[in-house]
Amino acid sequence: MSTIAFRRLFFSNAPRLSLARALSTTSAAQMASAVKEPSHKAFKIYRWDPEQPAEKPRMQEYQVDVNSCGPMVLDALIKIKNEIDTTLTFRRSCREGICGSCAMNIDGRNTLACITRIPRDEGSKEVKIYPLPHMYVIKDLVPDMTYFYKQYASIQPWLQRNEAEENPSKELLQSIEDRQKLDGLYECILCACCSTSCPSYWWNQDEYLGPAVLMQAYRWMIDSRDQKGEQRRERLQNPFSVYRCHTIMNCTRTCPKGLNPGRAIAELKLLMAKD
Ligand code: SF4
Ligand code: SF4
Ligand code: FES
Repeated sequence: MSTIAFRRLFFSNAPRLSLARALSTTSAAQMASAVKEPSHKAFKIYRWDPEQPAEKPRMQEYQVDVNSCGPMVLDALIKIKNEIDTTLTFRRSCREGICGSCAMNIDGRNTLACITRIPRDEGSKEVKIYPLPHMYVIKDLVPDMTYFYKQYASIQPWLQRNEAEENPSKELLQSIEDRQKLDGLYECILCACCSTSCPSYWWNQDEYLGPAVLMQAYRWMIDSRDQKGEQRRERLQNPFSVYRCHTIMNCTRTCPKGLNPGRAIAELKLLMAKD
């Protein structure tokens, strides 16, 4: 709308409603002119349906207009589910890299779909998406995390004290330095991207705890408020729980939160060597 047309409309006796309508028509026209041309990208996605057990897993291709969807891979998955194929199954919740539920393998890397940008460069013609590797699949992109959570529970991830000495009304204080020792450990969201990228975990998952769980085991051992470090370490003194880690460092390379589980395991081994 030109300035003169706007003034005429504003200073006339036309009711306010007309002004609002005129403004909304103008902004709608501006928005329409800002709509981008469609740009389609292929998403090849692993599909498997437990209700069709005779059918083998397959890759299914979807064409998505990436100019009419959000910038992240999870946005494309949601668009596919909403507009193309409601049967596509995946987990998601927070959409901001906090809950860990959208962990999957995208173009060969274990990561979180909600914080992974859809590649827009000319060189990338398609996006390939699989569930986290070496896990049982419940359906499509949903891995079975039951055993992973059992392993997490096995390290008893909670603060433990010698109850006889305990005064429940007394606050447990921690120095700034001791609190800082937990930085880089407590931020783990248990997405399992690291554990499922670890060759040792692939081959010995039944006995080796894997980087995510071991990093949390270490986190509780070095918490200055916890008094059960010795017992925690004793439970891990066997050839498999910790020592299947061969410092390959896939775990650290893939962590979408920028954490370093490989280093935490190295520190854990040092602690255990002193016992
Ligand atoms: S260390 Fe990183 S990759 Fe591993 S579970 Fe935690 S957040 Fe996920
Ligand atoms: S450093 Fe250890 S835990 Fe990490 S990928 Fe290698 S073997 Fe697995
Ligand atoms: S949806 Fe929560 S981390 Fe991606």
